[in-house]
Amino acid sequence: MQEKIIILDFGSQYTQLIARRVRELNVYCEIHPFNNLPEFDNTVKGVIFSGSPFSVRQENAPQIDFKLFHNKYPLLAVCYGAQYLAQHSGGEVIPSTIREYGRANLQYINETHPLLKNIPRDSQVWMSHGDTIADIPAEFEVIASTDTVRVAAFQVNGSKTYGIQFHPEVTHSTDGKQLLENFLVDICGCSQDWTPDSFIETTISSLKEKIGNDKVVLGLSGGVDSSVAAVLLHNAIGKNLHCIFVDNGLLRKDEYTQVLDSYQHMGLNVRGIDAKDRFLSQLAGVKDPEQKRKIIGRVFIEVFDDAAHEVQDVSWLGQGTIYPDVIESVSVNGPSATIKSHHNVGGLPDFMKLKVVEPLNTLFKDEVRKVGKALGIDDVILGRHPFPGPGLAIRILGDITAEKVAILQEADAIYIHNLKASGWYDKVWQAGAIFLPVQSVGVMGDERTYENVICLRAVGSVDGMTADWSHLPYELLAKISNDIINNVKGINRVVYDISSKPPATIEWE
Ligand code: XMP
Repeated sequence: MQEKIIILDFGSQYTQLIARRVRELNVYCEIHPFNNLPEFDNTVKGVIFSGSPFSVRQENAPQIDFKLFHNKYPLLAVCYGAQYLAQHSGGEVIPSTIREYGRANLQYINETHPLLKNIPRDSQVWMSHGDTIADIPAEFEVIASTDTVRVAAFQVNGSKTYGIQFHPEVTHSTDGKQLLENFLVDICGCSQDWTPDSFIETTISSLKEKIGNDKVVLGLSGGVDSSVAAVLLHNAIGKNLHCIFVDNGLLRKDEYTQVLDSYQHMGLNVRGIDAKDRFLSQLAGVKDPEQKRKIIGRVFIEVFDDAAHEVQDVSWLGQGTIYPDVIESVSVNGPSATIKSHHNVGGLPDFMKLKVVEPLNTLFKDEVRKVGKALGIDDVILGRHPFPGPGLAIRILGDITAEKVAILQEADAIYIHNLKASGWYDKVWQAGAIFLPVQSVGVMGDERTYENVICLRAVGSVDGMTADWSHLPYELLAKISNDIINNVKGINRVVYDISSKPPATIEWE
């Protein structure tokens, strides 16, 4: 059985980061809301309490009966968690006289303490709290302090329960990972055997057991998640996995044939469906971006449903859902652990009434890539930039025609080719060209032109939530502009988008 750490979320913005760090130490962990506890069986090796935007002094602050864990599992309580333990054990938490945000140093460290093993005196830690633990009960022992925070870390004597005021999960806490490793390995006794290979092995065997001889349909998009999900399922059930790859006519130039080709090379049982005309005819004359998204979503479901019906006796729908889609940090306005549900609404197409299998729903994006690499999936698929589901439809401002799609595909292909050739493709998080239906005057040879504008967009980001425009070299921009204007009929002007998100967004629509 897979051993695990349970992280109980009190709504901190850093909860997912705690999970990331634990997993980087090859220990499997799960995040659960503090008020919706999972089953605590013998696979649980330890518990971590997250921070919270609440103060423990607030009336509506999150409450938990920590006696459920204290002395039963090793418990590491971070920030709010630490204050909660102190206050509810007879200590006192008061508003800080100086609000402590940012860097601090552990000027006192109990160097013999197992939680602080290999952490040097003066180690930098990241604080983010408006309250201070002013007084601790007699059975609590201070094991680290900064010059302004006496109770920076404590242990409840005679137990494996610890509280830390700082955030070990952020990289500004320079020895935070060491502290987590001390907790996980020395205190919880975790064996650090959760690796991409072990994930693959256990996932394939549990998929085999779950699905047996049933059939699964799965929609491939060409992106990382659906591709990795498909290969895992394929390794588990072989030809009983029926993949469907729809050409909506809004993919990048040649992408449909190239991706279909590489899926076939990977041995997947995949069927390509050319539905270009169906999408384009439904989109004709539609200018509103949200309307475009709705139409594309609806037509995709129709096309997929038709194709799925052609597979006899299918009982499962495979999906590339990943962990961030499943968990949501507890909301400040009231906890809401939301799990996306596919089968709770009436009138859904038949395929949505299938049982759902989501082999990646415990993984973060970078873990999906690592698993994909360990499965031998081509870098061309794993290293691909994010690409929106509605594709080029939301990169053509205004109404969509086959001609505009063709122009944008050409310009985009030149752009992406140049990014790859110059080594910039892997340095930017997402790039794409946008077709602006704005005509402007130009001159080519002796002729006056009156044609459209292509806008280039390239951004750096971690998760798409915020982004900054990439500082592509002028020489590269000059070459791309030249190549596009000289080779793409209908374009006589190229501009570069220098807006960050917020306040702009990555896509223009
Ligand atoms: P924005 O434009 O909101 O984009 O800054 C953030 C990320 O989301 C992608 N995106 C979409 N992906 N369907 C998708 O599957 C959509 O309708 C959609 N709109 C934006 C965008 O490409 C970027 O990665």
